[in-house]
Amino acid sequence: QTIYLKDYTPFGFTVEKVELTFRLAPTATRVTSRIRFAPNPAATDRTFFLHGEELKLIRAAIDGAEVTPDVTPQGLTCPVPDAPFDWEAEVEIAPEDNTALEGLYMSRGMYCTQCEAEGFRKITYYPDRPDVMAVFSVRIESDLPVLLSNGNPGDTGAGWAEWHDPWPKPAYLFALVAGDLRAHSDRFTTRSGRAVDLNLWVRPGDEGKCAWGMEALKKSMRWDEDVYGREYDLDVFNIVAVDDFNMGAMENKGLNIFNSSAVLASPETSTDANFERIEAIIAHEYFHNWTGNRITCRDWFQLCLKEGLTVFRDSQFTSDLRSAPVKRIGDVIDLRARQFPEDQGPLSHPVRPESFQEINNFYTATVYEKGAEVIGMLKRLVGDDAYARALDLYFERHDGQACTIEDWLRVFEDTTGRDLAQFKRWYSQAGTPRLSVEESYADATYTLTFRQHTPPTPGQDEKLPQVLPIAVGLLNPNGDEVVPTTLLEMTEAEQSFSFPNLPARPVASILRGFSAPVVLERDASREENLFLLAHDTDPFNRWEASRALAVASLMNMLSDPARGPDGAWLDALLDVIRDSALDPAYRALLLGLPSESELAQRLYEAGTTPDPEAIHAAAEKHRQARAELWQAQLPALAEEARVDAPFSPDAAQAGKRALGGAVLAMQSRVDGGKAASAQFDAADNMTAQLSALTSLITAGAADDALAAFEAQWRHDRLVMDKWFGVQIAFAPPHDAVDVTRRLTEHPDFDWKNPNRFRACLGALAMNHAGFHRADGAAYDLLADWLIRLDAKNPQTTARMCTAFQSWKRYDAARQEKMRAALGRLRDQPGLSRDTSEMVARLLG
Ligand code: ARG
Ligand code: ZN
Repeated sequence: QTIYLKDYTPFGFTVEKVELTFRLAPTATRVTSRIRFAPNPAATDRTFFLHGEELKLIRAAIDGAEVTPDVTPQGLTCPVPDAPFDWEAEVEIAPEDNTALEGLYMSRGMYCTQCEAEGFRKITYYPDRPDVMAVFSVRIESDLPVLLSNGNPGDTGAGWAEWHDPWPKPAYLFALVAGDLRAHSDRFTTRSGRAVDLNLWVRPGDEGKCAWGMEALKKSMRWDEDVYGREYDLDVFNIVAVDDFNMGAMENKGLNIFNSSAVLASPETSTDANFERIEAIIAHEYFHNWTGNRITCRDWFQLCLKEGLTVFRDSQFTSDLRSAPVKRIGDVIDLRARQFPEDQGPLSHPVRPESFQEINNFYTATVYEKGAEVIGMLKRLVGDDAYARALDLYFERHDGQACTIEDWLRVFEDTTGRDLAQFKRWYSQAGTPRLSVEESYADATYTLTFRQHTPPTPGQDEKLPQVLPIAVGLLNPNGDEVVPTTLLEMTEAEQSFSFPNLPARPVASILRGFSAPVVLERDASREENLFLLAHDTDPFNRWEASRALAVASLMNMLSDPARGPDGAWLDALLDVIRDSALDPAYRALLLGLPSESELAQRLYEAGTTPDPEAIHAAAEKHRQARAELWQAQLPALAEEARVDAPFSPDAAQAGKRALGGAVLAMQSRVDGGKAASAQFDAADNMTAQLSALTSLITAGAADDALAAFEAQWRHDRLVMDKWFGVQIAFAPPHDAVDVTRRLTEHPDFDWKNPNRFRACLGALAMNHAGFHRADGAAYDLLADWLIRLDAKNPQTTARMCTAFQSWKRYDAARQEKMRAALGRLRDQPGLSRDTSEMVARLLG
């Protein structure tokens, strides 16, 4: 059954208050609800329908009188008075049997919840839709020592605790946790003087992994006050780490629940990348308190209203705390790796989708990351001051409301007087725009002529021109910037922009900072890119020039296997890499090559069928040649990357280790793994240990290190996820399937744990040439596991179906094999709605 945005109608009733009582028991939890409803004057349809799934209704009453509602697998209906009334119901649920990890479930002896998007209906009967906001009071009865819910703590006694959340909220923000947990506690005083107790709750044994998350929380709270003027609004803020969790984390009001991989950290067990990700996710969930919770979504089509904005805010936070250019480059790498393939394949959908069968399938890179890009463009177009004023108005006008993208755009129109009708297409039109550019120079005037067009996407054949903010700078031939960054505002399908009074033909740096999420089709010459690599003042485009040279070099090697890498580019790159004035993190990014999957995507965009094995061979040859060519310079670079101070996960040290890791990977190609082996033995932090391990795997010399690593970390689930993952992700392509098979037979392969499942099967999908093995063995292996997982956990299964999203890129034989694997899934009796929808969209 498909739900459409255009069919929105308000619920027939408002909820004045909600009182819930939980008597927790693994297979027979009793949930009693007492809800005050009143007719909603804004609604015309007064049908009293409450969502409810997989619930055993014990009794129901209206104003104290027993009623017998009409119950279906989706919910219940019941005749109700034409005036305010009290609804009471008691239901029974079995958290221990809940393997979908949605609703109330158990994870290794602890109770926890995940309600977004539509999980609350598995807890009790309720209007489970985000535009119904209410004040909740909760009583939990259980012998477990720690009992938590949203809001502020109320009374407690032996075996029970009460919570009250004064802020009206939709049911998807409800949370409950009960378990034998330990707190890492701290305190934060808000700008206006509210003292807030902060707790990070973990299992006994994990207390030593809390300090970083707590620091990140305090930094986030301060930053949101300083930059957005947003203060926290309760007396406590609780975070809980859970081992079994489908996503990264969840912003439940006052009680954020985190996948333990997204919050627990220590130098010995976490990489620098883990530390940075944890800092960003803590910030993301915290920032949702205003962008998501205080102002929420009218319906799930508006998901990007909170997610795009909150991703944008967390990326601003990371840019402020760390390096803005490094963060931007990382985000664009991620956008191209995850969002572009989605936007250019069968799963393409607008930032604000217009229909869905299962909303969980729309927590996508398009809604989140492209949604954040759209906000970045808006901010560029209106300027920083207007952005700040618009956001102030947004918070002032919409606090306590469930809003739409129209509300969001209106605050920008009202503050700036701009008409955003055309800009709004970014929310409704799917697909990645292609932007081509031609340059001309005459009479001291330099002219850029742009053309944009967006290829058709499923269900959208006709595309209209988008508003494109194109940041451009011009350099003169000796490398000086003659026109600093200027924002061109393109609105037409074809448009020219002229720069007069230029005595010499300049070199253009186009789309600085990646100012719009488009595919820029530019035939810049190799000389121009080399020039930009050497001289561009925009760090993003400097990196981008090198990336263009990398792509061109790899493409040349692919079309002529006798060729080696572009020597002039490598020489130029080495000059930049050796520039000690540059941030090591930035230099590490310059050393990165486009992924094999990105190369496949670029070939496909250029009208060529990618051959995964040939791409892998070219990339390997390239890496090997580069390592040999630079062999003599590697020790000096390694020396520069050395960290002498005690470990800290800060950006400066992390940047050095990133550079060191890239250098070590090169060294291992010429020394048989000697340096990596030494680093592995001496490592006192996970970044060093893991980069040594992956270097050893690529050098084919990792057996001892893998055994030592396993012996050392056998009892740490998060570290063991890395052990599983790297063996598969870095396996030689012809081995990847066998390695995966072998590891899925390992006693610690707990396939019902989403982190472990992803560590193995997700890593297989990331091993591009291994996954696309010509005989289809990897497709079959993944399909087998997805069939098995779907019966337990539809959400994670459906999400992992995206491994097949680019099947149309490849040759007919591989396409056939991927379609067959998907067909096997589709024909599986009892396949979940989540996976059915994904498979149907994938197969078109
Ligand atoms: N709102 C959460 C976040 O962005 C994600 C929750 C997703 N849950 C889901 N079932 N799809 O932080
Ligand atoms: Zn979010």
